[in-house]
Amino acid sequence: MRDVRGGLTFRLVVASAVLAVVVAVAFAVLLSSVGRLRDLQQEAGRSGEVLVGANHLEKLVVDLEAGQRGFIITAQEAFLDPWTTARAAIPGQVRELAALVADNPTQLAAVRQIDQTITSYLDDYSIPLLNTTRTNPAAARTIAVTQEGKARIETLRADFDRFGATETTKADQRQAQAAAADHRASVAAAFGLAGSLALVVAFGAYLTCAIARPVRRAAVMAGRIAGGDLDVQLPGHGPGEVGVLERSFNTMAASMRRNRAELAASRARIVAAGDQARRRIERDLHDGIQQRLVSLVLDLRTVEAELPEDNAVQAGQVADGLAAALDELRELSRGIHPAILSEGGLGPALKALARRSPVPVELDLDVPQRPAEPVEVAAYYVVSEALANAAKHAEATVVTIEARSTVDRLCLRVHDDGVGGASPTPGSGLAGLVDRVEALGGTLKLTSPPGDGTELTVELPLLPAGAAPGDAR
Ligand SMILES: Nc1ncnc2c1ncn2[C@@H]1O[C@H](COP(=O)(O)OP(=O)(O)OP(=O)(O)O)[C@@H](O)[C@H]1O
Ligand SMILES: [Mg+2]
Repeated sequence: MRDVRGGLTFRLVVASAVLAVVVAVAFAVLLSSVGRLRDLQQEAGRSGEVLVGANHLEKLVVDLEAGQRGFIITAQEAFLDPWTTARAAIPGQVRELAALVADNPTQLAAVRQIDQTITSYLDDYSIPLLNTTRTNPAAARTIAVTQEGKARIETLRADFDRFGATETTKADQRQAQAAAADHRASVAAAFGLAGSLALVVAFGAYLTCAIARPVRRAAVMAGRIAGGDLDVQLPGHGPGEVGVLERSFNTMAASMRRNRAELAASRARIVAAGDQARRRIERDLHDGIQQRLVSLVLDLRTVEAELPEDNAVQAGQVADGLAAALDELRELSRGIHPAILSEGGLGPALKALARRSPVPVELDLDVPQRPAEPVEVAAYYVVSEALANAAKHAEATVVTIEARSTVDRLCLRVHDDGVGGASPTPGSGLAGLVDRVEALGGTLKLTSPPGDGTELTVELPLLPAGAAPGDAR
């Protein structure tokens, strides 16, 4: 098949691409939201680590203060152990905390500030105080000294509180952002899923409308054409190749319709030509030989009357023989083309056939209007052949003939109660009837089960008076 613009392949590729893009966009949004959510969760986790680190550093500062106080009160070096351990751990802890807030300049500055305050506490207050305790414990225990320590520790605590509050606020913000990202991810997933589903359904519906349904229609049409119904028609505007298929089907059906009409017309012409030839022969016989034989019989009768008795008997026998031959010729010419059909119509012609039939006939006629001549002739030959067959083959005791006309059809039914088993053979009487009936657009049905009689059912469309055979189509 040649390429079709906007063909099915192109449409399917475009529809698939749209579906793929929508699904891809939905998944991209979903993945980016999930990634953002993961980042925020990581940041929230780091805030927790920062708070833990700050707490740890604050605890070390508290250890400094506690160890120092124990040493001042007891003047025993053993009480200084917490101070010593805390002092050794503080630089590492400060570095760790600074590393955790390295990406946040405000918090980094706060850590530096805390580091400076601790250093100042140690260098300017704690270490000199411990030295004083070793040399002059009483001076070290003075209220003024202790107050300064408290004040420095309060300052440090305030720094830690600010640092913690800032970090907590930040953690809360990240938590809120994480919740928003989580919500966005859920919405993106829901929309992506619903959009994909809707597109898949739309895609399926499109495939059904654009391909499945027209192909099914074409299949039904092909089935009807195969069954002899050539009047089917497809829309012809289906998409792409489906439209081409529909139009091809329509063209095919139209060409088959034309061929069928031409065939019917030529069949009808052949039948009509045969009928004309029969009519001419019947007329020639009637007007020519029959008239000649009639006058010969009359002449012979005249001669017979004038001859002596012996010769008169002989002449009478010749005249009788001639009269019998004339009767046979008349009988023959009636079969060739029944003049009574042309003159009296179907009713009288069928009654004449019934009278001549050797098998008794029951006739039921209801044909008020005379059909067109080709229809009458066809009906006459159907009944004539059926009666001849009943006499020749059926061993029937009775033949029933029904003839009725409706608005547009002449229906015939001829039934005999004989042996059945009739079937047309090429060139035989029944086959000729099929040709004759179908040439007029009619139908013939033969039912003849062996042992159960024979029935011929014929329907002929009623042609308008004067119509030519084949016009019924
Ligand atoms: N009414 C019937 N009852 C039983 N058999 C029949 C009957 N009509 C026809 N047949 C059988 O069917 C065959 C075909 O019939 P058909 O009328 O086509 O041909 P035919 O009568 O043999 O020859 P033709 O009609 O050409 O003189 C017959 O030979 C006969 O065997
Ligand atoms: Mg026959």
